[in-house]
Amino acid sequence: MTVESAVQAVYLVAAVLFVLSLAGLSKQETARRGVLLGMAGMGLALVATVALALDRSERPVGVTAGLILLVLLVGAAVGTWRARTVEMTQMPELIALLHSFVGAAAVLVGYGSYLTEPRTTGAGTTVHHVEVFLGVLIGAVTFTGSVVAFGKLSARLRSSPLMLPGRNWLNLAAVVACGALLWWFLAAGSTEGSTEDSTAGGAGLVPLLLMTVVALALGWHLVAAIGGGDMPVVVSMLNSYSGWAAAAAGFMLGNDLLIITGALVGSSGAILSYLMCRAMNRSFVSVILGGFGAEPGAVVEGGAVEPGSYRETTALEVADRLTAARSVIVVPGYGMAVAKAQYPVADLVARLAARGVTVRFGIHPVAGRLPGHMNVLLAEAKVPYDQVLGMDEINDDFPRTDVVLVIGANDTVNPAAQDDPASPIAGMPVLEVWRAREVVVFKRSMATGYAGVQNPLFFRENTAMLFGDAKDQVELIVQALSAPAGP
Ligand code: TAP
Repeated sequence: MTVESAVQAVYLVAAVLFVLSLAGLSKQETARRGVLLGMAGMGLALVATVALALDRSERPVGVTAGLILLVLLVGAAVGTWRARTVEMTQMPELIALLHSFVGAAAVLVGYGSYLTEPRTTGAGTTVHHVEVFLGVLIGAVTFTGSVVAFGKLSARLRSSPLMLPGRNWLNLAAVVACGALLWWFLAAGSTEGSTEDSTAGGAGLVPLLLMTVVALALGWHLVAAIGGGDMPVVVSMLNSYSGWAAAAAGFMLGNDLLIITGALVGSSGAILSYLMCRAMNRSFVSVILGGFGAEPGAVVEGGAVEPGSYRETTALEVADRLTAARSVIVVPGYGMAVAKAQYPVADLVARLAARGVTVRFGIHPVAGRLPGHMNVLLAEAKVPYDQVLGMDEINDDFPRTDVVLVIGANDTVNPAAQDDPASPIAGMPVLEVWRAREVVVFKRSMATGYAGVQNPLFFRENTAMLFGDAKDQVELIVQALSAPAGP
């Protein structure tokens, strides 16, 4: 068996492992197995790719092996350092940054592949040129789009949508320009092989460079035009784009595993974007076209709500209410992640359940800052999966609930999404916590949430505000509940 055919066989096994990994990741119970299968697949893929590179090496094998080892060590060191130091709440920005690497890699592979190809003509060359063009296009859009998403998620850029005049026409003009540049690029490629000038690059380099500039601007504009509460969809959309960029790189390099992996990432990212759009009541097509976050003129701050008066409460009072309650729903949000309150929250819930109280969690699909953020935190704190319900499963139960504890959630429980058509989050489905008998909101101040929108929930009669760090407050409630009852 040649190295080439052995590598293809290993690629096939790795591809099957990736598919099984995705299947495992679709359920909490099997997610750990899914991650392990994915790691095994990636390990096999790396070993096989290095073996192939050594087999095809035109330099002395030792030199190629040394170079590969060097980049692997640098990459592994940086990756290990980041993975160990990143906070859970910074994961979305890290993911956005990693997507930008995939985009940049696709652009570089495209240029490398074009500059080093033999200058010939024919159908095979034309197909390869189309691959190069599309690979660089998708890679460049992914690169700048991801850099802007990173800037917005890490608060280095303003999260509000950029509303340039005629923005849809600008996007359309960029797409038309790329079409024209593709035509120029292919026309240049078809004459290159027949001319004496067969130097690297050739005449196609000019349209390729021009398209790269247009695509970089397009990626930047598409994501800059989306903002506030709609950012989660952008992250999963860029995840999908990065998959297609990897698949395009696979075509350029003739690497089947990269094509399969890219297609898996691209399609699962697209399915996730679709599901998130449905959860947020947004149109999938308008996300792909960029800029549905707010229409020009929409009020981003404050909405139409006049802040009224609100009621404050204390941990002791909340403990008393919980003692008298028969059914409780906990609605966690980004603030629970910031406070790392999941452990005392799990403790509180276990204590209430032990007293015979029906306690469940209501999870909004975009609570926190990454898909499944709350589920991961609650799984980490060993909360039983059957206590954790999705928005659609629990929304009808609020009217039959005595107390709702909103722990660091804000946009995902904002009634303005239903009541105020002028609100930037209008139409987004929310957890209808205000329909319960009593609502306690845990947060540190009256500040707005991620979307920058005022929340009328805080001013409702049945809402009480428990100010302070969520972890400290939940711990105080647990202490109060575990203290022996007075005489
Ligand atoms: P947010 O609307 O972001 O509100 C979080 C609240 O937590 C804030 O109002 C903040 O108020 C409070 N908080 C922060 N630190 C706290 C602490 N230590 N203790 C107590 N409270 C604390 O949360 P959400 O309801 O989870 O909504 C998520 C938002 O993020 C949505 O707009 C969503 O679209 C967006 N988003 C989601 C994702 C994904 S994929 N999930 C990705 C990007 C963006 P104080 O400052 O007053 O404490």
